[in-house]
Amino acid sequence: MTSTFPTHLSTSVNKTVVVLGATGQQGGAVAAALRADGWGVRAVVRDPSGQRARALAAVGVETVRGDLGDPESLRAAFSGAHGVFSVQPNSGQAGAEVTNEDEVRFGAAVAEIAERCGVAHLVYSSAVTAGSTTGVDHLDTKSRIEAHVRKLDIPCTIVRPATFMELLVTPEMGLDRGHLSFLMRPDRAMQFIAVRDIGRIVAAVFGSPDRYAGRTMEIAGDALTGEALAEDLTRAACRPISYSRLPTQDEVLAKLAALVDDGRLAGNANLDALRAEFPFLLRFDGWLAGPGASLLDETLRSSDTGIARR
Ligand SMILES: NC(=O)c1ccc[n+]([C@@H]2O[C@H](COP(=O)([O-])OP(=O)(O)OC[C@H]3O[C@@H](n4cnc5c(N)ncnc54)[C@H](OP(=O)(O)O)[C@@H]3O)[C@@H](O)[C@H]2O)c1
Repeated sequence: MTSTFPTHLSTSVNKTVVVLGATGQQGGAVAAALRADGWGVRAVVRDPSGQRARALAAVGVETVRGDLGDPESLRAAFSGAHGVFSVQPNSGQAGAEVTNEDEVRFGAAVAEIAERCGVAHLVYSSAVTAGSTTGVDHLDTKSRIEAHVRKLDIPCTIVRPATFMELLVTPEMGLDRGHLSFLMRPDRAMQFIAVRDIGRIVAAVFGSPDRYAGRTMEIAGDALTGEALAEDLTRAACRPISYSRLPTQDEVLAKLAALVDDGRLAGNANLDALRAEFPFLLRFDGWLAGPGASLLDETLRSSDTGIARR
């Protein structure tokens, strides 16, 4: 009898993927997409009784206590798993909980332990700037982890996500004042991706290991100039939103802006090829009308009630 079960879904039956960072943006999106494709998902969480961990458990995700800094907890979590999704927390910047060296240590440990546990497929989430030395320490951590992962004997896919669309509507960006400030010049394009789509791409990668193991993929859903971002935001917010480049007196911001200008942080993904491969990829206007609508609304409402950070 011919099976009508889609091939990428049949890969997932009775198999478990361990997801790191599942209470955060990327890991959360990966866990949701894997569950939708029929995988068992085991989330390594620092606090299983926390609200986000409990929300994961409520939708069928197995939550196990663990910490990126505790190799023994990772070994226990990876035992018997088919796959591991590896993402590390933001490092080295203002407000980050971990140092750049912690991030590299965590990324290396996850890959080494996955190899030793016989995991069949590791997916590491890196960033678009990996592959060249940028001189920005919290970006160069990704190149260091990639280099380490490549030395190991484990089938691995590296995804390099563009800047998240979610970042554009955080209160720090100025939308509450009718303005967006970001890194590119008003007339120069930068690539972006919806966090939801990182999850969907990673689930597709786990679903087709023969196609994706050994590949490094820059991933993005749209490319927009500062002016185009402002137009989309104006339409979605129903109020005028203008755009200007962030002031670059700050040394790190100046380096980031230079990396956008030379293309490395702006992103160089082939959007047409990605869209053909992953037809669900959202453009920015689609994201604003869909998963981003509540985030934009929240940021705008906080200004209406005067509670936005200034
Ligand atoms: N923002 C962008 O545009 C962009 C673009 C490309 C790549 N990136 C990269 O994306 C990564 C951040 O991903 P994200 O935004 O999905 O993260 P996030 O939302 O900030 O979440 C971080 C996750 O890591 C977990 N975590 C933190 N410390 C941990 C530890 N010691 N042990 C176990 N889990 C720990 C957190 O769990 P708790 O709930 O316990 O805190 C949380 O689930 C960074 O490496 C960043 O460089 C960002």
